[in-house]
Amino acid sequence: MDKGDRRLVPGQVEGGSEAVSFSALVEARLSRRDVLRSAVAAGAVLSLGGLARPAYGAATGAPSTLAFDNVSQAITETHHVPPGYRADILIRWGDPILKGAPAFDPRGQNAEVQAGQFGFNNDFVAFMTLPRGSQASDHGLLFVNHEYAAASAMLTPDQAKPRSPEHTALEMAATGASVIEVKREGGTWRVVPESAYARRITAKTEIALSGPAAGNRRLQTQADPTGRRVLGTVNNCGGGTTPWGTVLTCEENFNGYFKGALPKQTQEGAYLVRLGLTERPPFPWFRHDLRFDRGIEPNEVNRFGWVVEVDPYDPEAVPVKRTALGRFKHEAATTVLNPDGRVVVYSADDQAFEFIYRFVSKGTFDPQKPETAKDILDDGVLSVARFDADKLTWLPLVHGQGLLTLENGFSSQADVLIEARRAASLLGATPMDRPEDVEVNPATGRVYVMLTGNPDRRTWQVDAANPRHWNTYGHVLELIPPSAGEGTFDHAAQEFAWDVLFLAGPESKRRDAEGRLPPYSGRYGAGTEVTLMNPDNCAFDRQGRLWIATDHVLDGTLTKTTAGLFACDLDGPGRAVLKFFFACPRDAELCGPAFTPDGTTLFVAVQHPEDNAPTDLKEPLWPDFTVGLPARPSIVAITQADGDIIGG
Ligand code: FEO
Ligand code: CA
Ligand code: CA
Ligand code: CA
Repeated sequence: MDKGDRRLVPGQVEGGSEAVSFSALVEARLSRRDVLRSAVAAGAVLSLGGLARPAYGAATGAPSTLAFDNVSQAITETHHVPPGYRADILIRWGDPILKGAPAFDPRGQNAEVQAGQFGFNNDFVAFMTLPRGSQASDHGLLFVNHEYAAASAMLTPDQAKPRSPEHTALEMAATGASVIEVKREGGTWRVVPESAYARRITAKTEIALSGPAAGNRRLQTQADPTGRRVLGTVNNCGGGTTPWGTVLTCEENFNGYFKGALPKQTQEGAYLVRLGLTERPPFPWFRHDLRFDRGIEPNEVNRFGWVVEVDPYDPEAVPVKRTALGRFKHEAATTVLNPDGRVVVYSADDQAFEFIYRFVSKGTFDPQKPETAKDILDDGVLSVARFDADKLTWLPLVHGQGLLTLENGFSSQADVLIEARRAASLLGATPMDRPEDVEVNPATGRVYVMLTGNPDRRTWQVDAANPRHWNTYGHVLELIPPSAGEGTFDHAAQEFAWDVLFLAGPESKRRDAEGRLPPYSGRYGAGTEVTLMNPDNCAFDRQGRLWIATDHVLDGTLTKTTAGLFACDLDGPGRAVLKFFFACPRDAELCGPAFTPDGTTLFVAVQHPEDNAPTDLKEPLWPDFTVGLPARPSIVAITQADGDIIGG
């Protein structure tokens, strides 16, 4: 969830004058899809494999490969999966994970007990096999991050006020990440108690800073004159895994923990405003820990907003903030091993009108030589995406090149990385409609970007890749790297092709004489009977089918449907035909879809269930429905009763 996001109610005007230029844009894209198909058919430009690519709304007359019935999108107090599936609560906020940690006590939560328990508001989930490097699907580690923790949601009203240092300490202990060991026995997943792998990472865990910005004077503080050691990580949202068995966990809305803007007439002040710093942050940690007060420690904020690499197999390993990947509100970091051995990491900056980034390592990784992974993410080129109607260009953010010079306030690559947004704007990157998760289809090499929406985009701001003004419901883009031969793709290429996969939102009942939908309508593959809203996290299954988790933050007051998990084929006759698989309990968003390697288990994270319910323990709430227990964010393990793969 993104605290502070505006909850706007859109007024969609059918056929208004504003719609004209917008309509032209969408139709131009539809035409371009036809051009793309022709190019593919001729084998001229891209290695798309000659796939049938139905235009929006075209009748395909063929079904999805996903063999389950849609669940209802109605809002209810609990979660739902299709018939034949089971969805078991695996672990809840407050369950003990470290040796000696106490059981959850709803009236006994404090920083000390919380530091040994599963954190609050589970978000990204990675299943890491045990033994390491195996394809085990019955035994592994779950790395889970905890986006944010609010004392007001964790304590009863009488405990939560007035705010005290203990509240700040509790929030710091409940945020960060958890590592747990999980096993499937007799068809049921359980958490291995007191596992030697179990770990909590909090807002106080020691973390190293590495890469070009590490040690820079802008990262030095009174407590850390080296600029290379920081305490903690905050607001971890999405993430990713690497081919060498580590996890990348991403700091997103770090601004919400720091007090202190500057006059926006100054360059730095304007940048802090752009990051969203205010005098009244939603998490007022500055009252009890002065490093979060910019007036006292101006550089601490520069030590947040990074991608953090964690080795989940070694509870003693010091996590590392990899500054070469840039500083912004990272929603996820998805790693691909390029055919030439270079490591490519895609990441998006989740804020309206911000950008999509890509890092390409200088060195190469050899899976036969694990030591080649060491610090490979510290040296490489960070680029940002510019979308034109006919191509995507990656613009390198390299100090000294183009406008990224001293005259524009960049004295080093560290400056470029610390102020990645400003550098990207100078280069002409394309402002996006809140880019969230990015994933690469293992079956085709194509890259998918969830744009969760941007109601603030106006008619004069629409472009080919963000084709709707007042984009309340979001859309999904498909990025297509060029072929690198033999069925591989060059993720390091400077130019990609791209396309729009979906426009989310309700599908209009109106069609023109040629059967086309109006431009503001949701657009899906023909036969879609459900409505996608605010795509956020995503994952691929082994068959290369896309699974999309949603968060209705942008129109929470309007939505009559629940958030949850959608899925679709990307190839063949079921391309872009969406189905709805998992319905969240009321008020929750769904995060972290993660499959076991064999595809028979899907782990999902239910975040902030019953966000609007009182915390007085008087109501039976998800997931326990027991008076005396609060609503608790939880991980759910989904399997088929017969052990078949998820989705069939
Ligand atoms: Fe924390 Fe971008 O969702
Ligand atoms: Ca979210
Ligand atoms: Ca997210
Ligand atoms: Ca993902």
